[in-house]
Amino acid sequence: MRTQVAIIGAGPSGLLLGQLLSQAGIANVIIERQRADYVLGRIRAGVLEQTSADLLREAGVGDRMEREGIPHAGFELLFDNARHRIDMQGLTGGKQVIVYGQTEVTRDLMEAREASGAQTLYEASEVVIANFDSAQPTVSCTSGGRRHEIHCDFIAGCDGFHGVCRASIPRNAIHEYEKVYPFGWLGLLADVPPVADELVYANTARGFALCSMRSRTRSRYYLQVAIDDRVENWSDEAFWYELRARLDPDARERLVTGPSLEKSIAPLRSYVAEPLRFGRLFLAGDAAHIVPPTGAKGLNLAATDVKYLAAALIEHYDEHSDTGIDTYSERCLRRVWKAERFSWWFTSLMHNFPDGGDFGRKLQGAELDYLVNSEAASRSLAENYVGLPL
Ligand code: APR
Ligand code: PHB
Repeated sequence: MRTQVAIIGAGPSGLLLGQLLSQAGIANVIIERQRADYVLGRIRAGVLEQTSADLLREAGVGDRMEREGIPHAGFELLFDNARHRIDMQGLTGGKQVIVYGQTEVTRDLMEAREASGAQTLYEASEVVIANFDSAQPTVSCTSGGRRHEIHCDFIAGCDGFHGVCRASIPRNAIHEYEKVYPFGWLGLLADVPPVADELVYANTARGFALCSMRSRTRSRYYLQVAIDDRVENWSDEAFWYELRARLDPDARERLVTGPSLEKSIAPLRSYVAEPLRFGRLFLAGDAAHIVPPTGAKGLNLAATDVKYLAAALIEHYDEHSDTGIDTYSERCLRRVWKAERFSWWFTSLMHNFPDGGDFGRKLQGAELDYLVNSEAASRSLAENYVGLPL
């Protein structure tokens, strides 16, 4: 089989790239290890920066997001038993974010791909990428009971943190930066109305909590838990009890509980692999970098990588210029490191660190007080939360 761009991974990065390339008339094949419904079953964050929302609209998959996504003009910080609103819109000259789950983004992209007729090989095993340091890269895999060999011009590594692409780059050609946090997030999804109209990020002596939502009738809540905690240790009742204990009196009163639809624990990690290009192989999204979920930058970073990568490939084919390809890694990394800094900072501010001590907690208290009482500090937080300009 021959194509122009072979895309490894049908998460949001791979699907969005495929859609932008198909729109531009560039042939592409997606190779995905899992089944489509498995990909859709993964629950991830759901806050879209304006740039990401614009890109989805540009890709022709913005209609349902427009109808069902919820624009948010602010969010709340909870500490010392009180909530303080950060007026994102007022502090950033009118910018907002859209709350719309990654699962829904993925579903919209899968439907668009199906309609476009572009090929996706699901349940692909033994995926091997080769010759990407030459002009004739290849991808081979087993799918539908037979071995495929795909000849292409470029390979896009959109296969997430545990994928095959980054692992196929010679070790001496890549530099990894990593920070692992000493706690995890226990998430619970339930068909209950959200406790507040906007997201609530809580710093409490019992640990961090986040009140988020998927719609006006579906909530997503998180609790900071010990790194070695297991989901089996948490009945729904235990979760709701602990969440209630981390809320302010008003929210506690308003909290509606119900049976969980999903419950899982995720570790928190900061990670960057540099550079994002090796010959004719490009890394995008979680294959290249991970942020801790505080601030929900993961999907947004993936979207900007893909925006730059699609533009670079279109420039290569339409204008016979490789400027975009040559500057892809550097362009992405400037943005990636700013989001890494913000996600690390917001995580450090909001969580209870096992080794942080009293001094650490006092410093967090002082910074939170400063944040909500200084317009300059609030504006900096708001500017990063809505997304820095491209
Ligand atoms: N071969 C083919 N596909 C693979 C392989 C492989 N060897 N390894 C992994 N994959 C697939 C996974 O099954 C998954 O569907 O690649 C896909 C990667 O998707 P994601 O992990 O969702 O990564 P990405 O598309 O970059 O999305 C980034 O996801 O984790 C969040 O915070 C992150 O929101 C951000 C988004
Ligand atoms: C979520 O809704 O899952 C979510 C929202 C905001 C975050 C992280 C996760 O910062």
